[in-house]
Amino acid sequence: MSLRIGDTAPDFHADTTTGPIQFHDWIGADWAFFFSHPADFTPVCTTEMGRTAQLAEQFAARGVKPIGLSTDTVAEHVKWIADVNDTQNTNLVFPIVADADLGIAKLYDMIHPSESETAAVRSVFIIDPNKKIRLTMTYPMSVGRNFDEILRVIDALQTSDTRHIATPADWVPGQDVIIPPSISDADAKAAFPQGFRTIRPYLRTVKL
Ligand code: BEZ
Repeated sequence: MSLRIGDTAPDFHADTTTGPIQFHDWIGADWAFFFSHPADFTPVCTTEMGRTAQLAEQFAARGVKPIGLSTDTVAEHVKWIADVNDTQNTNLVFPIVADADLGIAKLYDMIHPSESETAAVRSVFIIDPNKKIRLTMTYPMSVGRNFDEILRVIDALQTSDTRHIATPADWVPGQDVIIPPSISDADAKAAFPQGFRTIRPYLRTVKL
């Protein structure tokens, strides 16, 4: 069965390009951006790895650790990282999990047999410090992910956790947010003394 939002991310032990890890211990008190890709030395994957490395400061500012996976070996990953750094003008330091026996890819339902029996699709798991899965996305092999969107959903999740709000379509930080219908007007007045806008009784927005 596939993993769902709210599930505990399965723990695993793995060899990675930065040494062996126990996944939950490696996440520690941070968030994790765990993403799979089909194979080393392939063009779309190379751009995605480069983009993740280029965004290192953006992930760190949000307390998020990136970690990749493909069904290749550590030795193959290490050779490929040199190519990623060279072609994408970056310095990739986050770990890439080696999963040549597909054990972790299967645990996370990253193998979609109609696409490939042996290579992972482009899965994304955003995992919080409690090791709960907070977001899943799955892209086909031929489509590179949008990393602005990955940072945006992390911002939305973290803002909703700390401020108990929801975010509207296409929200980006700085824009008005939504007061969930579960919060009464009286509680909203106390929580948001700056005032809020009632468009409908179920649709209230506030500037943070
Ligand atoms: C790529 O990364 O370019 C790729 C990998 C597997 C299938 C299609 C594209």
